[in-house]
This record gives sequence, C-alpha cells and structure tokens, in this order.
Amino acid sequence: MSIETHKPEGTDLERFPVPDPGIEEHIERWTDADADAGNRAYRQVLMMLGAVPVLAIVFVVLYFALPRNSFVDIFGMEFDATTFLLGLTGGLATLLIGIACIHWAKTIMGDEEIAEDRHAAASPPEAREVFAAEFAKGAEQSGLGRRKLIGGALGGALGVIAVPAVVLLADMGPWPTSAVRKETIERTIWAEGVKLVNDITRRPIRASEMEIGQLVNAQPENLWEHHGADFQVEKAKSSIIIVRMDPSRIKIPESRQDWQVGGILCYSKICTHVGCPISLWEQQTHHLLCPCHQSTFDLGDSGLVVFGPAARALPQLPITTDADGYLIARSDFTVPVGPSFFERDSNGDFKEGDR
Ligand code: FES
Repeated sequence: MSIETHKPEGTDLERFPVPDPGIEEHIERWTDADADAGNRAYRQVLMMLGAVPVLAIVFVVLYFALPRNSFVDIFGMEFDATTFLLGLTGGLATLLIGIACIHWAKTIMGDEEIAEDRHAAASPPEAREVFAAEFAKGAEQSGLGRRKLIGGALGGALGVIAVPAVVLLADMGPWPTSAVRKETIERTIWAEGVKLVNDITRRPIRASEMEIGQLVNAQPENLWEHHGADFQVEKAKSSIIIVRMDPSRIKIPESRQDWQVGGILCYSKICTHVGCPISLWEQQTHHLLCPCHQSTFDLGDSGLVVFGPAARALPQLPITTDADGYLIARSDFTVPVGPSFFERDSNGDFKEGDR
C-alpha cells in the first residue's frame, strides 16, 4: 500500500518553518493480516446489530407490560421501574449500534491512509469526477460490496430503533377530554379530613405549633400511599406551603373566612406561571417570590399576583383543625393547581375585587 506525503506548494523555511512530518509508517491491521480474524470481526458486528431488534422488542413489551406505579429499589432508593428498564434497554440498543459501527470502521472498512492538499472551496469538474470514482472505491472498501449483510443489518437496526421513540409518544398522556382532566390535572389527593404533614418529618402539624411569620412545606398525609411515578405525579400536584400571619394585618375575604385557622393559611406550592415550586417567603410584606421568573404572590391577600408573569392567583387550600388540634383539609383545592392549560376554566380563580 503506497503512502503519500503532503508538501505544500512553494514550500520554504520562512513560510513553512515546521517541516511536514508526512504520514506515519502504516501498520497492517490484524484483521487484514489474518482472514479468520477479519471474519470474526464481521460476525461480532453482525451479532451486535442483531441484538438491537431484540432489545427494541423488549423495550416495547416492557412499555406496555409494566404497571405504571411499579418501582425498583436500588440501595434503598426508589426508582420508577418503567423509566429504569426502558432506559436500560433503549440505551443498550443505541450503544450497540454505536459500538458496532466503530468496530466495523476499525476492523473491516478500508485501511488506506491518504493526505490531500488544500484547494479552493469549489471543486472543478475533473475533481468531482475523481471524487465520484473515489467514493465508489470507498464504498467498495467499506466491505458493503462483499459483506452485504452488514448494510442490511445496520439499516434494519436503525429503522427498528425508531420504533421505541414512536411508542414513547404515548407518554404525552391520554387525550385531555373533560372526564380525563377531571381525574388528572384538575384534582389532587387532598380531601376533607386529610391531615397536613411536614414535608421532611411527615409529622402532622398542630395549629398551636405554628408561629406568626413561619412558613412550613407540607404534604397530604396520604401521599405515601402512592409509589413510583404515581407518587411523583401526586406530589407534584399536592405540595403546599402553610404560613401563619397576624389576622389583623391581612385581608381575609368573607368567602374564605372558614378556609383559615387564626391566620394560618395554606396555598399550593406550585407557581401558576410554569409550575416551579415556591417557598421564598418575605414575612414583613407577606409576599411569596417564585425564583424562576420572579412572579410574586401576596399571601396576605388570597394569593393574588402582585408582580411577574403569573396570570392567576396562587390556589388556596381550605383548612380547619380536627378534634386534636391538627391541621386538616376541608376539601380538595377548588381550582386546578399549577400552570394554565388551554381547556382550563378560570371562573373559580380568585381575582382582585372578589370578597
Ligand atoms: S414559574 Fe414561577 S414565575 Fe415562572
């Protein structure tokens, strides 16, 4: 095999002080030197590409077979089983295609080393003809001429790997009919009598424990009955903040007098702009600031927006106390929590002037 070295035209020491090192001595690959090794590499590439359709089928089967709320426990940490296993099979299939291509390029494709001079961007017609001839030669050297199966296997693997991607479109959720919305984004697991518990300790919260100016992140006590993806979905919707303010320094509308306990009020923790969790609380002004785009809500005035891009007041959860003095919900939220969506009915939202 010939080795061409590159020497720019007009070379002189002033213009090209570093001598052209040329191409290193060519070392023949083991797969070229040994026909058996070449055939072995060919089979290895085929095996890797052949495993891809199998993994793609397992991916699709798992997608439909795994219950939505299943989870795997790894070193005491809960992972959503669907995400874990789909990631494993889809990732492995993609990895195998990559490894097979690299192995093919390193062991089977032509091994000729070439140096080319730089030239003007637009190629003259003769150069294009040379390119076409070189391309045909390259295609021949890629092994596709002799090893036709690799081309077919690679094309098939790339085609099949698209199937999981198409199947994942189903994760965009069910069609949001009115009935589906009522059961999903328009409801949370809050209900009459559900205790408010501390987000970290999971302990129920007594009204008498709350001090003026205090903010507590909380969850419904029944949240831990849910697992896996279901747990994440319910937590995302039902997270709340509880604040206690001096009742004489805040506005409590007539319609919400029985939604609070002595100045203890409870709001959704999810910003009504695009859904960031909020708890930046300014005691003096009673303002709650969202760190994402600076929407600011006045918790001393029914969660109305006083600044920023949020278009709706923060939903308030009606609360009371049980016989032991623990804070409990009076009902679910009266309006959907979180960001707006097309079909959302905003009639129930608290607005400036509502009393
Ligand atoms: S998500 Fe809160 S301001 Fe944008």
